[in-house]
Amino acid sequence: MCGIIGIVGVHSVQERLIDSLKRLEYRGYDSAGVAGIVDGHVQRRRAAGKIRALEAVLVADPLNATVGIGHTRWATHGAPTTRNAHPQTAGRVTLVHNGIIENYADLRDMLKAEGRTFESETDTEVIAALIDFELGSGKPPLGALKAALDQLRGAYAIGVLIDGEDDLILGARKGSPLVVGYGDGEMFLGSDALAVGPFTNRIAYLEEGDYVAIDHKSAKIFDRNGAAAPRPVRTVAASAALVDKGNYRHFMEKEIHDQPEGCQRTIAAYVDTLTERAAMPGGVDFANLSRIQIVACGTSYIAGLLGKYLIEHLADLPVDVEIASEFRYRQPALRADALVIAMSQSGETADTLAALRYCQARGMPSACVVNAIESTMAREVDVVWPIHCGPEIGVASTKAFTAQISVLTALAVAAARARGRVDSAEEQRLVRVLLGAPRLIAESIDLEDAVKAVAVEISKARDVLYLGRGPMYPLALEGALKLKEISYIHAEGYAAGELKHGPIALVDEQTPIVILAPFDSYFEKSASNMSEVMARGGQVVFITDPEGQRHAPAGARVVVTAPQCDPLIAPLVMAAPIQLLAYYVAVQKGADVDQPRNLAKSVTVE
Ligand code: M6R
Repeated sequence: MCGIIGIVGVHSVQERLIDSLKRLEYRGYDSAGVAGIVDGHVQRRRAAGKIRALEAVLVADPLNATVGIGHTRWATHGAPTTRNAHPQTAGRVTLVHNGIIENYADLRDMLKAEGRTFESETDTEVIAALIDFELGSGKPPLGALKAALDQLRGAYAIGVLIDGEDDLILGARKGSPLVVGYGDGEMFLGSDALAVGPFTNRIAYLEEGDYVAIDHKSAKIFDRNGAAAPRPVRTVAASAALVDKGNYRHFMEKEIHDQPEGCQRTIAAYVDTLTERAAMPGGVDFANLSRIQIVACGTSYIAGLLGKYLIEHLADLPVDVEIASEFRYRQPALRADALVIAMSQSGETADTLAALRYCQARGMPSACVVNAIESTMAREVDVVWPIHCGPEIGVASTKAFTAQISVLTALAVAAARARGRVDSAEEQRLVRVLLGAPRLIAESIDLEDAVKAVAVEISKARDVLYLGRGPMYPLALEGALKLKEISYIHAEGYAAGELKHGPIALVDEQTPIVILAPFDSYFEKSASNMSEVMARGGQVVFITDPEGQRHAPAGARVVVTAPQCDPLIAPLVMAAPIQLLAYYVAVQKGADVDQPRNLAKSVTVE
């Protein structure tokens, strides 16, 4: 997926931009480009295909610049052509961009009405045009950048050159990471530490909403409110750059924050943003499939359970989900015209692999949703649906979980369309909703401080109950699993409707009850469960959305209010608060968050 490098130097940047782009090849891409300021004006060189095609362009037409930006593009808005490759230019502004701008069509229409024309199909060109528009109204570069950022809706990281500014690169991040590299008389901007790795190991990680102006000597960083916000400069070992913790204390914390970008990259792989259609590669004939059998363990099993809710609801396609260790030994009844999907972050989990092979041996076609694309599962299935969230190091799975749900949501939409359960207008609406998820996940992660305060209370508990209905039921299971595995507090996830069938006996003043209830079709029932719990002295932590907060029965001890969203993406948006809750409880208790006792990241034995 897309990668960014920027250099404000005193020596030629051409070879170094290419060197950096080669290091970003691991992210996957289908076109590449560079731009630099030559004699006060921006020049671009771009090519479809691999970096060697760009190198050939540069041999024929070198870029003699000391300030430049480079990009590897993984196509989202528009085909992987030279015209759509980055950098994109509009007027004085040339920029590279990772991410998705949700409101690009509206902005483009607004700019067209101002007489502007567009040469590419990209959302990126719209950002360039918007900044140029703001420059045209007399704002200085940083002011124009900030004014443009305030109009963007989406998740992004950008690097910007401005014609006539030969000692300046602007950058900004929201939902996609961006780092500033501090060199010796030169400065760098990169989409990750690896991008700037060849030039410096002194790095500052921008925080969510930050924007920056760098010249060859310094960086001025501002937070989302426009206040100066110097970020700590850290020394990062080059070999560790890919799995560096950034500004975070633990990998789990970093990986929770990685989720907007991980989901954005994953969603972009399974939808066509131009036609707004879901596009599952692999040629599975969802229209004629009789059934899907999902096999998985742990958090991947819970992601599969969410997939069942999504796929059955949207596509009317039966889905069975089973814990792989049970499935493999109980001689389940299988159909050769059903599809088995193994869900696994590692692709090596012994029970999941055995369950997959069990199905394959009975003639079932197979697929896997996997992070490690070189894994055994990925090698053994007919169709691989990778998640694109990057390596997950924390033993407690977080970003792999939301990336798995992203794939299954796209699958549900694709299957619904193939089976005639939604028309193309509804499919487009659903795809737009899904494309908006990374921004809302970022907003949900912003609840961190509120969740931290709840965690102090929960860390004193001996037992915690998590309740939810519909898609919030699997999320309740996930909340309980996260809490158990990293904080060692006993926790149970229950379908809220099951409360009266047993767990209500556990309700007392010492047992916090986390109720997950966005304002959806299940809300009234969940609110009744909340009242039942409170009537028995239970201490409720209510995780909801603004509408839910308005309609909630009074008396919840704590309310965490996630952003309002379409029910399709509620599991994605509500995941961060429960992950953060487990994380901060574990931190509060001084537990080893990334390496919890007795657990392994990849369980390759049964
Ligand atoms: O690599 P996998 O997704 O197959 O791993 C499955 C489980 O071992 C894993 O999800 C485990 O439950 C995590 N520790 C949960 O955080």
